Amino acid sequence: MKLLVLNGPNINMLGIREPAVYGTATYADLCTLIRDHADKLGVEVEIYQSNHEGDLVDKIQAAYGNTDGIVINPAAYTHTSVALLDALKAVGIPTVEVHISDVSKREEFRQISFVRAYCRATIAGHGFAGYTEAMDLLAAEAKA
Ligand code: DQA
Repeated sequence: MKLLVLNGPNINMLGIREPAVYGTATYADLCTLIRDHADKLGVEVEIYQSNHEGDLVDKIQAAYGNTDGIVINPAAYTHTSVALLDALKAVGIPTVEVHISDVSKREEFRQISFVRAYCRATIAGHGFAGYTEAMDLLAAEAKA
């Protein structure tokens, strides 16, 4: 089984950006957590981060036919991107949406998520653990 973990803009700044919201652990720490969890689950994982919407669309398209599940934190593109929603629908790969912070308790403009319409589940406000929970959901679905 192969999972793709996608992160959108500014997630590479974890540890530096708004620590009161996102914590002090870094993007490298997040990648280590994801890789360790993939080992525990016995699945292959690819991790990708981009600050550019089109790069994320390209990565989703490239997953077609070779990836069993996608974990996506589209970051700010959550609230703006029909292109990411369309790309996920195009490839038809089971996907779980993750947010480190609890977006439901934040600004009005963060209340909309375009990708949510396609995703199996949304995990928000669980910090980095949201990523491993999403991986568990996708691994369980693939085994079912
Ligand atoms: C985020 C929440 C988004 O609203 C924000 O733009 C991000 C990160 C989160 O993980 O909590 O960049 O997706």
